[in-house]
Amino acid sequence: MTAATPPPEPLTPSVLFVCLGNICRSPTGEAVFRAYAEAEGPTPVRVDSAGTSGYHAGEPADARMRQAGARRGYSLESRSRQTVADDFHSFDLIVAMDRNNLRDLRSQAPSDATAEVRLLSDFLEPGAPVDVPDPYYG
Ligand code: 4NP
Repeated sequence: MTAATPPPEPLTPSVLFVCLGNICRSPTGEAVFRAYAEAEGPTPVRVDSAGTSGYHAGEPADARMRQAGARRGYSLESRSRQTVADDFHSFDLIVAMDRNNLRDLRSQAPSDATAEVRLLSDFLEPGAPVDVPDPYYG
């Protein structure tokens, strides 16, 4: 008798948060989403963040944003990285913080991209601002 084939591993859902620099908004999206996912229970979710630019590649999240997160109980642990073509295959969902990010993501996406690319505000209640404002200079 042959051993029964084990059932396939359940696919881990995955989400990538994207802003321009990956030091303010998308690290926050990543940290908040991860906290909510962990609070939901043991189902694994792969969460990451990236920037459409590489201006701050390798840097931790902006100190002001880490402080603002910490005051609300969120720990921003990411290091900035730029989006890569593989992101459009390896993530189920890519969430852009503003319409500039969305436009840049669409121009970066390979023609055979499989990820769904959406604005964060698509998931907010009607009437919420369309863009998460770029906080870098103010
Ligand atoms: P983020 O904010 O896109 O939310 O990470 C910014 C960070 C850096 C710059 C712009 C926005 N920058 O121009 O360097």
